[in-house]
Amino acid sequence: MRSLLGLFLLAAAATPGGASLTHSVSRRCNDTISSAYESEGVVTSPGFPSRYDPHTSCSFTFVGARHQRVRILFTEFSLKEPPEHLRPHERCLHTDWVAVYNVINGSSKQEIDHFCGTTVPNSVMSASSGLQLVFKSGSRSPMEKDLQNPRMGFSARFKFVSDLGLKSGRQMSDGSCHFVFNSTEARNGTLYSPNPEGFYPLDTTCVYFFYGLPGEIVRIIFKYFDVEGVLPCNSESDSDYLEFSNFPSADRKIPTFCGYMAPNVIHSDSSYFRMTFRSNSKFGGTGFAADYQFLDNSRHPFAIKRVIGAAFVNGGQHSRANCLLVVTVTSLLIVKTLQLGCSSIKEIA
Ligand SMILES: *[C@@H]1O[C@H](CO)[C@@H](O)[C@H](O)[C@H]1NC(C)=O
Ligand SMILES: *[C@@H]1O[C@H](CO)[C@@H](O)[C@H](O)[C@H]1NC(C)=O
Ligand SMILES: *[C@@H]1O[C@H](CO)[C@@H](O)[C@H](O)[C@H]1NC(C)=O
Ligand SMILES: *[C@@H]1O[C@H](CO)[C@@H](O)[C@H](O)[C@H]1NC(C)=O
Repeated sequence: MRSLLGLFLLAAAATPGGASLTHSVSRRCNDTISSAYESEGVVTSPGFPSRYDPHTSCSFTFVGARHQRVRILFTEFSLKEPPEHLRPHERCLHTDWVAVYNVINGSSKQEIDHFCGTTVPNSVMSASSGLQLVFKSGSRSPMEKDLQNPRMGFSARFKFVSDLGLKSGRQMSDGSCHFVFNSTEARNGTLYSPNPEGFYPLDTTCVYFFYGLPGEIVRIIFKYFDVEGVLPCNSESDSDYLEFSNFPSADRKIPTFCGYMAPNVIHSDSSYFRMTFRSNSKFGGTGFAADYQFLDNSRHPFAIKRVIGAAFVNGGQHSRANCLLVVTVTSLLIVKTLQLGCSSIKEIA
């Protein structure tokens, strides 16, 4: 019944005429939501879509089962405009805000992020089974320019998930973030960081195992990469990173990737390959998306092994891809490139 109520709330929130209904059945301002009773639903600011009151503080605490994580997808977000003269990281501290925290072991809190203003935040996912969302509004002055806005507050869908939002590959039965890509099940597909299209969760390790048939290799082509970190892209540089290996153990031949050091095309040496993504407890990014393809190596004698940089335009001349080139798309319009030293790439005939 309670999940029906969630659906009803969603429908009501989506239609302007449903405003009074939403109001009459909205949740308590401070609520604990357990996956045992409600696997998904909607949380909103008090009275949404009507404007929330000043000096309001509400918190929603989500409690999942072991191996579950909480995914929050903001659908509407319109809070008081923060003061313009403040720097981005300070803006949300002096206005109305929504904060999300990991709840670790049922008690200690770790901040994921603070959101304010009118930009709908990216979705977030908890690092383990607990998450808390806190909403706080401060004072309101009669001079505020958004006083006329009738639709103020936020609405977010929540869902308890055990697959980290990852739909491709086969998750190992222990519920961990270990996914198997078996060439007998799918020869190609797309893979993502946990919580695709949102911020990846903090403190998370995901392993993607590739198993080809004898004679097959796997090719992974990155389409998007936003993993927070700096060289040398490991725990010593406090980085989140992506690591590849041709063995069950570490593979020192392939560098790790993060920040501007983005992978482009990666080939395995043989039919086994492993990719590991690690995030730490500090601020994260929106992750990665890549296409993978199992190839019959005997029919692709020109397959280039290891890491291949894209061909790039250098001083007006189109140069060969003989450098380890790093390409990061930081926004749809800006492509950053960084050359990390040239060497001849072995072509395997
Ligand atoms: C919700 O909890 C906060 C903090 O504990 C408290 O300040 C606030 O008054 C509570 N709100 C309601 C409506 O009970
Ligand atoms: C949570 O508790 C378990 C056992 O009580 C412990 O092993 C683990 O380290 C704790 N996790 C954190 C992040 O504190
Ligand atoms: C891959 O799939 C085949 C056929 O379904 C199966 O025999 C094999 O054990 C699988 N390999 C792994 C590592 O899951
Ligand atoms: C991907 O696999 C499907 C069938 O599984 C096939 O039809 C398609 O051509 C493949 N695409 C590529 C790019 O290999």
